[in-house]
Amino acid sequence: MKKIFSGVQPTGTVTLGNYIGAFKQFTELQDEYDCIFCIVDLHAITMPQDSKELRKNIKSLAALYLAAGIDPEKVTLFIQSEVPAHAQAGWMMQCISTIGELERMTQYKDKSAKNESVSSGLLTYPPLMAADILLYQTDIVPVGDDQKQHIELTRDLAERFNKRFKKVLTIPDIRIPKNGARIMSLQDPAKKMSKSDLNKKAVVTLLDDLKTIEKKIKSAVTDSEGIVRFDPINKAGISNLLTIEAALTGVSIESLVAKYEGAGYGDFKASVAKAVTEHIAPIQERYKELLDSEELDAILDRGAEKAAMLANRTLKKMEDAMGLGRANR
Ligand code: TYM
Repeated sequence: MKKIFSGVQPTGTVTLGNYIGAFKQFTELQDEYDCIFCIVDLHAITMPQDSKELRKNIKSLAALYLAAGIDPEKVTLFIQSEVPAHAQAGWMMQCISTIGELERMTQYKDKSAKNESVSSGLLTYPPLMAADILLYQTDIVPVGDDQKQHIELTRDLAERFNKRFKKVLTIPDIRIPKNGARIMSLQDPAKKMSKSDLNKKAVVTLLDDLKTIEKKIKSAVTDSEGIVRFDPINKAGISNLLTIEAALTGVSIESLVAKYEGAGYGDFKASVAKAVTEHIAPIQERYKELLDSEELDAILDRGAEKAAMLANRTLKKMEDAMGLGRANR
């Protein structure tokens, strides 16, 4: 079975962008692949976090993974900091990356431009992400479009490691969803929908109450043409809403455009809002049941144990290849 690895940061709640770009792919892949999914809390601390909030967000994200349909019988789900091999392999990957290539990462450039002072962890975040993926000899990484550059760097680092030391790492491929690789802001459809957006009307989160979700979608920015058609360049707002409905319902964009022929934007938005709330309602129900359950802790304990076993195997090979420590121990 081919191996899949992906991770989501426990920072704030999960957005509709995270759900469509990542979670939805995860649930579709879990039957066919050996899947490992991670709550990447070590990545979260590259930006300042409140410790109590972080703990809460970690559990909340774990519950959301399961509520979104991840089956713990099929999938390994764990918290990154509970498997120390990530930090160890992350350091090794840092030592084979150059400052120049890390400074070229667009996410680093964006975040560092917005903040006066940033942690060095923000710069060295991509080698840690590479370690996450490479420790599991991952074949495929399902992510949204915004992670493309990080996956390319992961491939470069794996190739560099194999060439410089010994061929021990699998070179992973990226998998991006056909519909919804980049869900856009509801208020500024030229921008990606992002948890960190200060305008809360721009972002639907999976834990917003259903009335709020409906309101946010009904007030999404559109255009003045009055025709529902798919044209991401000239009609970014309408196209984003079509993408959201297509991704959640599995109906093609062409069929949706045909369905909305002659409809006004008011009716169109109400119908997209209905598709979104109908999809999210059962996820919220399951989330409430799971959040404080003992079952959740047991799943995360088992996940960490299994992940550590797999990760330590690769870590040992990496240490041997680099000549760290002593042989035969
Ligand atoms: P994060 O936590 O920012 O996002 C989690 C996943 O959601 C996707 N995503 C989107 N997809 C479509 N439209 C959007 N507007 C949107 N916003 C976010 C992201 O592409 C991602 O798949 N660096 C990663 C976490 C990470 C990771 C890894 C991922 C750490 N180690 C190893 C894969 C493999 C991140 O910050 O994702």
